[in-house]
Formats: sequence, structure tokens, C-alpha cells
Amino acid sequence: MLYAILKELIDKELPLYSNLSTAASILYTMKDINWAGFYLLEDDTLYVGPYQGELACTTIKVGKGVCGTSVLKDETLIVPNVLEFKGHIACSSKSRSEIVVPIHSNKGIVGVIDIDSPVFDRFTDKDKEELEKIACLIGALFNE
Ligand code: SME
Repeated sequence: MLYAILKELIDKELPLYSNLSTAASILYTMKDINWAGFYLLEDDTLYVGPYQGELACTTIKVGKGVCGTSVLKDETLIVPNVLEFKGHIACSSKSRSEIVVPIHSNKGIVGVIDIDSPVFDRFTDKDKEELEKIACLIGALFNE
């Protein structure tokens, strides 16, 4: 559903930041979430990109937090209870579960989609499947 909407809205003629901002806004329409957006990779650091939600931390080292661990492992991480994730970076004290999906271009990992929820165990395999498709769509925008 969100994938289909985004596929329509993404315009390759626009700058990357415009498409990422549109995508963050669409992702933020998901039910029971309190943060949705992007962290973009430069060298060994993730820098916050377009997002919706409360003020977030601006930099995360690869290997740190859920986002940095997702990049290090190069895999989608579903964290049903962030309070039990060692090293979780709490941008909002309201967050209880989280999903982080790596974004790949033809150069490798370029960043992640990060979504937080105030509800425990919010994210399902179905969310993972859809967000990975969205990550593919977004990743293509970074291709050279
Ligand atoms: N919780 C993330 C940090 C980013 S915020 O959720 C927006 C993490 O542990 O990497």
C-alpha cells in the first residue's frame, strides 16, 4: 500500500532531498508510530536525513544503536522492545519498538529507513517486506 503510493510520488527528476522528504511524510502515516525517516551513511557515520517526529539525534556511528547495527550487519532489524536492545539510542523516551531497514544503491549501503513506535512489538514481517521494497525504490535514487 505505502509502496504503491510512494512509487507514484517519487519523481526521479527531483533532487534526492525532495524525494526523501516526501517518503518520510508517507512513512509517517503508518499507524502507531512516533518517528519515521532516514539516516544517510557517509564513511563510518550515519547522519540524520529527512524525517517526521520529535527531534532526533543527528549522528550515529556504524555499529552503534539499532541503526548502526543494521548497517554493520547489513540486515533489517525488528526490535520488539527497545528497552531490551543493548545500546539502543533513545531519541524519544516514548519509543518502545523499532524497525531499521538498510538502503542499498549500486554502490552498496547508503543509509537506512528508521521507524519508531510507542507500542511494544509494533512491527511485523509484513512491514519488513513492504519497507524493504520501499528501501529498494529509495536506493535506486542514489544510483550513479
Ligand atoms: N533508536 C535509534 C536512533 C535513532 S532514533 O530512533 C530516531 C537507534 O538506536 O539507532
